Amino acid sequence: MLNLGVLISGRGTNLQALLDACADGRCAARVAVVVSNVKNAQGLDRARQARAPAVVLAPEKGEPRPRYDARLTAVLQEHQVELVCLAGFMRILSPQLLQAFPQRVINIHPALLPAFPGLGVQAAAVDYGVKIAGCTVHFVDEGVDSGPIILQAAVPVYDSDDAERLAARILEREHELYPRAVQLIAEGRLRIEGRRVLGANLPPT
Ligand code: GRF
Repeated sequence: MLNLGVLISGRGTNLQALLDACADGRCAARVAVVVSNVKNAQGLDRARQARAPAVVLAPEKGEPRPRYDARLTAVLQEHQVELVCLAGFMRILSPQLLQAFPQRVINIHPALLPAFPGLGVQAAAVDYGVKIAGCTVHFVDEGVDSGPIILQAAVPVYDSDDAERLAARILEREHELYPRAVQLIAEGRLRIEGRRVLGANLPPT
């Protein structure tokens, strides 16, 4: 069983997807702790409902990032976390935290990286006029949405789409993709070579 630490800031639907996949055996993992930097995040209720430990770790006023991240690292280590899953966590991680979990921090992003990193990306995709959008699970490095890509899923963009409709279509795929990526890691299938993550996209046999 791989011990997951899931970091959230908001509604936590991807957290829910991970909780469900751990409960029904699609992921050989357990959510060892959920940490939110936001006190009233809806995802905290989802954690409690699933009887997963839920910790609120709000930054103190003016707290330097390394100090907050040291507190966060301590919580994750206390719960024996082996894989950190960012699920709508609205903070950039410090190099110190990443060094504490080398190649063991992953994120889900609602765009087909390297296109549309950052925030507001579903609206940006509609405005740009792309015909295919999607989501990406990737390892986290020190940049913004720039780490090696584990899995991606594509969805069409329709003329009738606005940001909200496209976001909903992408989110459905996120909920399948994130547990699959966690399972690949739980099974020890992935190997990182430079920017490439090998072992995720095997040809059919
Ligand atoms: C998702 O769109 C995810 O891709 C992005 O933040 C959003 C979080 O949504 N990183 P939720 O809190 O998991 O519902």
